[in-house]
Amino acid sequence: MAAQLLSNGVLHKRLPENYIRPESQRPKLNEVINDTNIPLIDLSLSDKSLLISQISYACHSYGFFQVVNHGIGKEDLEKVMEIAKQFFRLPKEDKMELYSDDPNKKIRLSTSFNVKKEIVHNWRDYLRLHCYPLEEFLPHWPSKPTFFKDVVSTYCREVRELGFKLLGLISLSLGLEEEYIKKVLGEQEQHMAMNYYPPCPQPDLTYGLPAHTDPNALTILLQDQQVAGLQVLKEEKWIAVNPVPNALVINIGDQIQALSNGRYKSVWHRAVVNTGNERLSVASFLCPCSTAIIGPPINLIEDGATPIYRNFTYDEYYKKFWSRNLDQEHCLELFKTQ
Ligand code: OGA
Ligand code: NI
Repeated sequence: MAAQLLSNGVLHKRLPENYIRPESQRPKLNEVINDTNIPLIDLSLSDKSLLISQISYACHSYGFFQVVNHGIGKEDLEKVMEIAKQFFRLPKEDKMELYSDDPNKKIRLSTSFNVKKEIVHNWRDYLRLHCYPLEEFLPHWPSKPTFFKDVVSTYCREVRELGFKLLGLISLSLGLEEEYIKKVLGEQEQHMAMNYYPPCPQPDLTYGLPAHTDPNALTILLQDQQVAGLQVLKEEKWIAVNPVPNALVINIGDQIQALSNGRYKSVWHRAVVNTGNERLSVASFLCPCSTAIIGPPINLIEDGATPIYRNFTYDEYYKKFWSRNLDQEHCLELFKTQ
């Protein structure tokens, strides 16, 4: 039986049993820290070497950062958030046409994370779209609400450009040529997850998304401007990433951790929910092409450092990732050389 979409409007006074985490796995919301030092990088900075050193610090010490002056206009950000909100408000019949719990489907609406694999569910619905090449996927995207395709495709193009710019800066910050990572990752796929987290009757017992790292190369997250919920792990403490006006959150994914021979961290992050407000986020994932071979470049191992992970193709990695549950050990651990 298909799992219930949370956005289909059933009101829950109490959290259903199959969303309740065992005591040891709960989010402990009162222990979350508000860190005001989370790197916030202004991409319009004219001093490029300063910019690169900021990227280097952020990727190494946090594995994530926020960017402003990133080139995507405020209106475009607002439009995507608004259309995402409207999408989840569509009538149940419209939404169920898109429902699937098969992770191989390139366009699908689903709930939680991997409903067929997991034991405890997560308080989230999500729409997943493949976005590149746009012409290939656009015809299959939702045709409701009106303008969905227009608004989201514009944003996808802009996000892809931003992603490439960031990969350039990350390459430079690792002492590589600007185009290095882009070349290694090949003709990159681009996926999107529109996440909808409804108000939750007992947020201290469950997650929107439990702790995970992103399996791809780089994630660009547009988060709700009003409602916080994203948290990242630093030195074993969870830090709230509170929304900054018009900023985008950048996550280093597993592939850049592998490619940088562990120098840059694919950050553990999670989304928590709250009783009062629904929350939306739009994650854009840049993913290596499936045949790309991921391994450290010569300059990072020439001084005798051994490669931490064996070389693998992205295809191999991605299959492994989706064959598991989200909150297990870091998927990269399975690729360690020793
Ligand atoms: C994700 C993710 C966080 C959020 O979609 O991979 O981590 O705040 N989302 O929705
Ligand atoms: Ni994530």
